[in-house]
Amino acid sequence: MSKITVVGAGNVGATCANVLAHADVVNEVVLIDIQGNMAKGKALDMWQQAPVDSYSTRVSGGDDYALTANSDIVVITAGIPRKPGMSRDDLISTNAKIVVSVTQNILKHSKNPIIIVVSNPLDVMTYACWKASGLSDKRVIGMAGVLDTARYRAFLAEELDVSPKDIQAMLMGGHGDTMVPLPRYTTVSGIPVTELIKKEKLEAIIERTKFGGGELVNLMGTSAWYAPGAAAAQMAISIIRDEKRIYPCCVRLNGQYKLKNIFVGAPVKLGRKGVAEIIKLRLKKDEAELLHKSAAAVQEVADALDAMNLI
Ligand code: NAI
Ligand code: 2OP
Repeated sequence: MSKITVVGAGNVGATCANVLAHADVVNEVVLIDIQGNMAKGKALDMWQQAPVDSYSTRVSGGDDYALTANSDIVVITAGIPRKPGMSRDDLISTNAKIVVSVTQNILKHSKNPIIIVVSNPLDVMTYACWKASGLSDKRVIGMAGVLDTARYRAFLAEELDVSPKDIQAMLMGGHGDTMVPLPRYTTVSGIPVTELIKKEKLEAIIERTKFGGGELVNLMGTSAWYAPGAAAAQMAISIIRDEKRIYPCCVRLNGQYKLKNIFVGAPVKLGRKGVAEIIKLRLKKDEAELLHKSAAAVQEVADALDAMNLI
């Protein structure tokens, strides 16, 4: 029996649960929300979609954490989303309290789950979850880089008029405007992207990627959910299938890249035990500087969280 719980049955959580149900990789997906009937209703709707789309995943939902018992993976999307004019960091105190209480409730019913955090501000919510959980740092992972690289890949595919499937990319740093897309590690079917695109065009795409979340908030009045939900599901799938896919994930660095005790984005191999490996890239001086600048921005928010003494 394998089971994934998604906490937060809003836009991102419901999308994530739906992608997971369709992937047919676990026996059960459970959707939890403080709005219990909404979670129960969305889960029932997804279960009724199973005969149409031909999957076997049992989907259930509600507000009772007993439903989550013995989850292998828990995806936390509970929290409030970003509104226009609001930075990710404005969300810190509200969402930290939510993430901490969700983590505590989860651990009452699942002893050693792998937790994927999605709630913003992402890097610091992942840190909050890890701190509140007492779990190994191999088992608490944040989702941001999969989404941020997806945006970068989509923009590149559009510009180059190629399939987004053929674009591979890596990105590091925090999930914010200081994120560090890495052109040296971006290829189109193995061809370095720098051979296919003008420098100024690539720079414009990198800038658009950094503000990709804000672009959608401005269009929709709330933050994105299709790509974020699918991105979190993709990480969960690599873990449950022990695929050892390499994705940019928010993980606790402990000396890698000369960064210590900080949750920030880096290339990670994801398998059945969570973080199987943090890949160490040979960054050039300017890339390392950008990463350190981004880590400093994350650390500032982590310090603000620590000062609140919530955990
Ligand atoms: P949403 O408002 O659609 O859904 C959030 C859900 O969380 C609501 O249904 C709400 O009832 C629930 N919730 C609130 N407190 C709860 C609690 N204590 N226990 C259980 N459920 C609770 O928001 P959306 O769009 O799904 O976004 C969710 C979070 O994900 C936000 O913090 C958003 O900023 C973040 N996000 C992160 C991304 C990333 O790349 N890491 C990308 C997109 C969103
Ligand atoms: C995003 O990048 C707001 O973090 C959210 O879409």
